[in-house]
Amino acid sequence: MLNDPFGRKIDYLRLSVTDRCDFRCFYCLPKSHRGFETPDDWLTPAETERLVAQFAALGVRHVRLTGGEPLVRKELTEIASRIATVPGIEELSLSTNASRLDRFAEPLSQAGVTRLNISLDSLDEGKFKQITGSRLQPVLAGIEAASATGLSPIKINMVVMRGLNDDEVEKMVEYCLAHNLTLRFIETMPVGEGGQAATERYIPLTEIEARLRRRYKLQTAAMQGSGPARYFQVDDTGLVIGFITPQSQHFCETCNRVRVSVSGDLHLCLGQEDKLALRPLLRQGASDEVLQQAIRAAIARKPERHHFNETPTAIIRPMSALGG
Ligand code: GTP
Ligand code: 5AD
Ligand code: SF4
Repeated sequence: MLNDPFGRKIDYLRLSVTDRCDFRCFYCLPKSHRGFETPDDWLTPAETERLVAQFAALGVRHVRLTGGEPLVRKELTEIASRIATVPGIEELSLSTNASRLDRFAEPLSQAGVTRLNISLDSLDEGKFKQITGSRLQPVLAGIEAASATGLSPIKINMVVMRGLNDDEVEKMVEYCLAHNLTLRFIETMPVGEGGQAATERYIPLTEIEARLRRRYKLQTAAMQGSGPARYFQVDDTGLVIGFITPQSQHFCETCNRVRVSVSGDLHLCLGQEDKLALRPLLRQGASDEVLQQAIRAAIARKPERHHFNETPTAIIRPMSALGG
């Protein structure tokens, strides 16, 4: 088992398969960003499988594929099918912007992906373009294709921003109800230049929750998943909504996760810089035992929590480098 010094059990690995993206959401990957990882440094599908096998041997049970946008990595289905067969891995999920899901939802499901989370900040074409730099229509088509595969639950992630999309919260509730989707609201995080720019649009979700409670009955609900959302059933419908509140009510005491970048850096916390380079070990032919020992030693240094409120300009890597 992987236990950290604060008594937290680590069983969830967020694996970034690329730091590139076909969108430019201003809070995640600003247009000005330079310095993407070079292809020679990307972990190959075989290296990725070997690394996941080490985490699985140490007790990781859920792997989430992230980006950038994971679907821009050409080898994604190969990576997914390799991970799906690693002994010990019980769940393989994916976080995506859905722009390419109309083509890839079915092959990914075949490859062993069991669950999808999809970013969707606006249902208005103009707003969507303003936030992401891209088009809404392919995303809606991607969501439909994902629903058609039968993968469930599908969760929609909406980063709520004042004066930008906060007027669409109720519209998004209705959309998710009509399309049988789970909806999560997310507070902006000051990660990288884009995330820090988004701070001026930060809204504590306590405000959105209070607003929704005036209109709907919200009852605490359970929902499949490993992440930090708190869930509620809306009225007596099948709709469940969640709140992800890293700023107003941080959830670090229940943290169960670490992250690996496309170039094989093990990041111990989204809101801190501590990391360990695993690629050199993989490429120098380290044994399973040496790799597992290195991972254990890194987890022993996992920070207690982020300091987004105290030091909001500390993290200069863009959110896209780890996919959230
Ligand atoms: P499930 O609960 O398993 O469905 O997934 P998830 O919520 O962990 O995954 P997803 O990629 O959809 O992440 C949703 C949001 O939660 C993103 O904005 C992430 O950045 C944020 N998030 C996930 N884990 C952490 C964390 O450890 N710390 C912080 N601050 N934010 C996180
Ligand atoms: N603050 C909050 N959420 C963010 N995401 C990306 N950047 C930020 C940020 N600065 C979200 C995306 C996606 C999820 C994986 O992370 O919207 O849904
Ligand atoms: Fe865990 Fe760090 Fe996220 Fe807090 S900010 S939940 S400690 S990864």
